[in-house]
Amino acid sequence: MADRKTRFTRAIWHLTQELQNAAALDDALSASLEYIIRTLPCEAGTIWLLDRAGSRLYPLYNHGPVDITGITIEKGQGIAGRVAQSGESLLVADAAGDARFSRSVDEESGFETRSILCVPLKNSAETIGCVQVINKTDGSPFDAEDLNLCEALASLAAIAMEDKGLDFRPGAEKEVIISLRGVTKDFPSGDGVSHVLRGINLDVYKNEFVVVLGESGCGKSTMVNIIGGMDFLTDGQLTIDGKDFSHPGDKELTRFRREYLGFVFQSYNLMPNLTALENVQFIADIAPNSMPAAEAIAKVGLTDRAGNYPAALSGGQQQRVAIARAIVKRPKIIFADEPTAALDYQTSIEVLSVFEEVKRQLGATIMMITHNPEIAKMADRVIKLRDGKVSSIKVNLHPLSASELVW
Ligand SMILES: Nc1ncnc2c1ncn2[C@@H]1O[C@H](COP(=O)(O)OP(=O)(O)OP(=O)(O)O)[C@@H](O)[C@H]1O
Ligand SMILES: [Mg+2]
Repeated sequence: MADRKTRFTRAIWHLTQELQNAAALDDALSASLEYIIRTLPCEAGTIWLLDRAGSRLYPLYNHGPVDITGITIEKGQGIAGRVAQSGESLLVADAAGDARFSRSVDEESGFETRSILCVPLKNSAETIGCVQVINKTDGSPFDAEDLNLCEALASLAAIAMEDKGLDFRPGAEKEVIISLRGVTKDFPSGDGVSHVLRGINLDVYKNEFVVVLGESGCGKSTMVNIIGGMDFLTDGQLTIDGKDFSHPGDKELTRFRREYLGFVFQSYNLMPNLTALENVQFIADIAPNSMPAAEAIAKVGLTDRAGNYPAALSGGQQQRVAIARAIVKRPKIIFADEPTAALDYQTSIEVLSVFEEVKRQLGATIMMITHNPEIAKMADRVIKLRDGKVSSIKVNLHPLSASELVW
């Protein structure tokens, strides 16, 4: 009993700190849910918020291997919808035997929901969403003590919401451009195999800016290289713009990459014997739908340096040429693997501003890998990978512009 009490007190203390210290409410809520998930501990959890009309729930933050950030729930439907409607907590010990539980996500993803605990998020006047956690890792169902802990989180969150204010406006319905289902990747290693991707489930939307975070070696580059056609998946399904690219033929793949995708890496890979403009022109010439090379150079702010050779450009300028080269073909998707890792702060901000403009002007989808959590504040959604799986996805309520980032 003493242990339980200590755990509870510690949790309240921790959550209070978390909520006080976080700059933005969405960060405070997601950090608190992470804490709850570690404390219970359990396999998955979601913070759901009601839209302004109070009729549908949208996920703000999801911890777990399944990307549910594109799902919405009608108030009154399913477990979370019922909690949002009634303002009362629900504890479901056996989801399989409960008619209120909707099985569609499990059926699509292969995830197995056993037990659910869902508590309302309320401000002083009304219920504005709920917090849901799924499957205790020891296999036991959630109990009354877990319920108390989650309710405590929810009431602390309510205070923070009063304090910091919550302005939640879900955007218009989004269109999926990249979809991964159960994507795995094995590499040969010694006498055996190394399972680098272990079942990635993820949707990326048109004109979205997603940032991918995760510790070194967790599979970020491998995942992006597979989506970009530079490597092949071992198992699972990859769809891009409605076409199945799980096992593409060579010719089809080459054409697709040329027309649809742009890449920017940490190293600029410019041709040293061509000027900035010629480096871009070279790609413009082989892509069918390209813009004039000078226009791409102008978009990255390098018109007055167009005639320079790479050796006469700074690192940031070379990276901007690399971005011009990626955007000249008007790609639908741009992959950037640590594009600012070799740059200083000021130059990084300049380069990130170029990505921001590219997203706005060309309507491109941007998928950027970084080790810098500050850059994640620019994203529409932040995807964290861990051990070859998606570990969490956070929707940023208020993405910052590049010029607001500080590190
Ligand atoms: N071609 C390959 N052959 C064998 N193993 C590979 C290959 N490419 C990657 N790996 C292994 O897969 C794992 C994930 O690598 P990956 O490059 O995707 O990590 P990452 O998350 O991008 O890391 P970092 O942040 O350091 O760039 C690593 O253990 C790596 O050694
Ligand atoms: Mg990498």
